[in-house]
Amino acid sequence: MNVQSIKQRFSIIGNSALLNRAIDIAVQVAPTDLSVLITGESGVGKEVFPQIIHNFSSRKHGSYIAVNCGAIPEGTIDSELFGHEKGSFTGAYESRKGYFEVANGGTIFLDEVAELPLSTQVRLLRVLETGEFIRVGSSKNIKTNVRVIAATNVDISKAISQGKFREDLFYRLNTVPIYIPNLRDRKEDVHLLFRKFAIDFAERNRMPAINLTEEAVRILMNYRWPGNIRQLKNITEQISVIETNRVIDDKILLMYLPDFYEEKLPALYDAPIDQKTFNNERELLYKILFDMKNDVTDLKKLVLEIMKKGVVDTDIHENNARIIQKLYQKDVPIVQKDDIPKRNFEVIREQDDDIQDTEEIIEESLSLEEKEKEYIMKALDKHAGKRKYAAQELGISERTLYRKIKEYGLNED
Ligand SMILES: Nc1ncnc2c1ncn2[C@@H]1O[C@H](COP(=O)(O)OP(=O)(O)OP(=O)(O)O)[C@@H](O)[C@H]1O
Ligand SMILES: [Mg+2]
Repeated sequence: MNVQSIKQRFSIIGNSALLNRAIDIAVQVAPTDLSVLITGESGVGKEVFPQIIHNFSSRKHGSYIAVNCGAIPEGTIDSELFGHEKGSFTGAYESRKGYFEVANGGTIFLDEVAELPLSTQVRLLRVLETGEFIRVGSSKNIKTNVRVIAATNVDISKAISQGKFREDLFYRLNTVPIYIPNLRDRKEDVHLLFRKFAIDFAERNRMPAINLTEEAVRILMNYRWPGNIRQLKNITEQISVIETNRVIDDKILLMYLPDFYEEKLPALYDAPIDQKTFNNERELLYKILFDMKNDVTDLKKLVLEIMKKGVVDTDIHENNARIIQKLYQKDVPIVQKDDIPKRNFEVIREQDDDIQDTEEIIEESLSLEEKEKEYIMKALDKHAGKRKYAAQELGISERTLYRKIKEYGLNED
């Protein structure tokens, strides 16, 4: 049987070389007993291929069972596929044959095979390799002669690297791979499919079929069709039912392809970034990192001070006014000693050696002192020695600034 008559028999529309090749491989592999893995995006038309293979095999008079692995709950899938013995789990009142037993001499199509739980994948690998399986709750090997065809729209190599799919099972299933092309790689088929779906809909509903203007055809062919043929079919039917005018122009069509323009936008712009932008961005990043480092150092200092003192007092507030203000994003009033409810803030220390990074913090605070000195000098310089304004700029109280000037001996020269 040639490819054209197969298309006719299975109502496959399209003439692209990629589609013809997929059909050709299916016909070639059909008479063998090899496992076949059908891949392709969602909606490309994978489901008809196992039927072609089964119908052109010597098993065509045997049963053909299509199992949607993604639709069966994880708890029952083993029992569905391999059967179970009476009493093997709650609710197993009778023993039951699974699909692998029922389809003996025929074909099983495992659709959405990547959805199989790992434990079921082990059982499947075993039946593929030995032709034997065990019912749930039994220890008896049962022989079966089933041809397995699987399909998936997920990236199996990704599933393997994520540990969701067994590599050995993949190789076993993928003995003969058949790839079904995306609709966007079959541009020449888009209008053919549209016309077929429009005519089918019109016949079913006894109304004239819709037609596209030339410009609309051009748009239809250039669309990305992320949902492939399923999406094209849905849109054709939507337009057929909604539009009263049977001639569909580009403007009407575009209303049904809402993301058409968005798709034309470049996702990745690969032009070289100009040096100035790069430098500015790098500077900004450095500044953010520097500020973050300062905040972390300040916080470490604050925590250490609280842990050492065991209470939060005025000094702590004063010494850390900048970070406290930053944390609360507003002016924090300096707390008077008497206002502090000491008990609530007491830090319970069981052992001194609980503070493990003291050394590191001291080291950090030393460098912080240098930075602090530098900033105080800069602020004083900027405000011509006026402490009030320098303190404001630094975000500390005038009193603290005065103390720090004395502490660092900054007023000596
Ligand atoms: N070449 C084609 N000619 C006509 N109709 C097609 C063709 N290919 C697919 N279709 C139709 O498109 C729809 C989607 O096809 P199908 O269900 O086989 O997709 P799929 O590849 O199995 O997608 P998924 O991975 O989401 O299950 C079906 O209604 C099918 O009849
Ligand atoms: Mg499918």
